[in-house]
Amino acid sequence: MDNPFRVGLETERAPAPCAFVIFGASGDLARRKLLPALYNLAVSRLLPPGFSIVGFAVTEMSEDQFRASMREGVAQFSRRKPIDEAVWNDFASRLHYVSGAFDDEANFARLRAKLDEIDANNGTRENRLYYLAIPPSLFPKVNDQLARAGLVADPSDASRYTRIIVEKPFGRDLASGDALNADLHRVFHERQIFRIDHYLGKETVQNLVALRFGNAIFEPIWNRNHIDHVQITVAEDIGVEGRGKFYEEAGTTRDIVQNHLLQLLMVMAMEPPVAFAADEVRDEKVKVLRALKPLVGEDALRDTVRGQYGPGNFVGRPVPGYREEPNVSPASHVETFVAMRLELDNWRFAGVPIYIRAGKRLTKRITEISVHFKDVPHALLREDGAHVEPDVLAIRIQPDEGIALRFVAKVPGPTMTLRPVAMDFKYGSTFGGSGPEAYERLILDAMLGDPTLFARADEVSAAWRFITPIHEAWASAPVPTFPSYAAGTWGPPEASDLIARDGRAWRRI
Ligand SMILES: NC(=O)c1ccc[n+]([C@@H]2O[C@H](COP(=O)([O-])OP(=O)(O)OC[C@H]3O[C@@H](n4cnc5c(N)ncnc54)[C@H](OP(=O)(O)O)[C@@H]3O)[C@@H](O)[C@H]2O)c1
Repeated sequence: MDNPFRVGLETERAPAPCAFVIFGASGDLARRKLLPALYNLAVSRLLPPGFSIVGFAVTEMSEDQFRASMREGVAQFSRRKPIDEAVWNDFASRLHYVSGAFDDEANFARLRAKLDEIDANNGTRENRLYYLAIPPSLFPKVNDQLARAGLVADPSDASRYTRIIVEKPFGRDLASGDALNADLHRVFHERQIFRIDHYLGKETVQNLVALRFGNAIFEPIWNRNHIDHVQITVAEDIGVEGRGKFYEEAGTTRDIVQNHLLQLLMVMAMEPPVAFAADEVRDEKVKVLRALKPLVGEDALRDTVRGQYGPGNFVGRPVPGYREEPNVSPASHVETFVAMRLELDNWRFAGVPIYIRAGKRLTKRITEISVHFKDVPHALLREDGAHVEPDVLAIRIQPDEGIALRFVAKVPGPTMTLRPVAMDFKYGSTFGGSGPEAYERLILDAMLGDPTLFARADEVSAAWRFITPIHEAWASAPVPTFPSYAAGTWGPPEASDLIARDGRAWRRI
């Protein structure tokens, strides 16, 4: 029978009571992202009754110390400030902590005892959501221990669930990515695995789906007949911010392109799925990756540009180059910038170049997809020399989230002078305030068992299948001359040459 108290409520997304276990709860991710997201879900009353959090890490801490440390994280990083004391007090009472090394079985027996106690007291009915906020090298150990301690339910058991949320990096090339997936599959069924890419939790990325498939006017022109080219920019103005050790292992291509940027490409280019449901959406997304024209050997060297920032300026003050950052080799050849020219070998986008660029210490922080439409077919309005600029649809993922359509209009006056103008939709002013953080949406979806906005194993594998040959081509080429751009600029000149070669230019953003 329908619950009469829920009639008319905005959301029917009520997850079942569960325990949320964070492996690596003493780390940066837990403090900066996970706890603030969970607290905000509590403020929004989206957490189920009895919901409990168990932090698990090596660091010795009492439960009170854990609560105090998490409160600091929430106070600093929550989107809602200040902390609501009533909500916090209830939330803190649901926080628990277990400390111990991951290779000691006894610690998992203690974890199990804690979870059994929570089930008995809070009605969480053996529903368990594990979050691996630890280095991937520890995943196999944790997975084995969970299985051995009887903490993984059979996926066909309808009375309870076990799900696992996995953070990037999902490997560092095709072989290690596939090995990581094979290892997860030893213990978990694919439908129990939620690979998080926080870009998919962003409102603006989901809005791209709404723009394309919720409106009748865009889809008919979303193809090679009308689109000249597409640009995707993921620019950061900051440097490696103390994460030199991590960055030396990753570089921009692994850190941004293999995951976030290819996710944006997939959502921009996918065919309409038959339903907004997990497998339907992910089936269409993975087809985009399969359609990517491989960049191998000479093709990779021709159609990609790597760069690394040297010293420069950031908001008027001098900043060091990448090689001077802590924990970075003074002779490092790791890229902090990458630009590529991509093509999709499919019916919709054949012949439409997709230019992508991503990097650190660029002029500004902005993530944007711009769809550049073809020029008008007949220069009717150009007789007085006025240039008619092609229309551009710009989807701003962050910051100033929104969508702008640039088109030309006549400047008032006696001549037919044209100028680009914009129709500008801004999330903030239209819907008021900022929406939920990506992690809030994604954690809630995982509790609900909805993997639509998570990466499936074949998607990760297809992304590596495209990226790995590029790394191989770079490894066999002469070492690049780095640094190649000054901090605070738009990357190396070769990035402009890459697009200028086709008679085009990067959009000024
Ligand atoms: N931070 C982010 O914003 C972010 C974003 C995307 C993805 N990630 C990924 O998420 C994961 C966690 O990131 P993080 O920034 O939170 O990392 P972190 O601050 O370095 O620590 C993560 C946790 O891992 C534990 N740990 C590290 N090495 C260990 C070892 N050898 N044995 C046992 N425990 C160990 C730490 O435990 P102790 O401190 O108790 O030793 C800590 O609780 C990483 O895989 C990272 O790549 C992080």
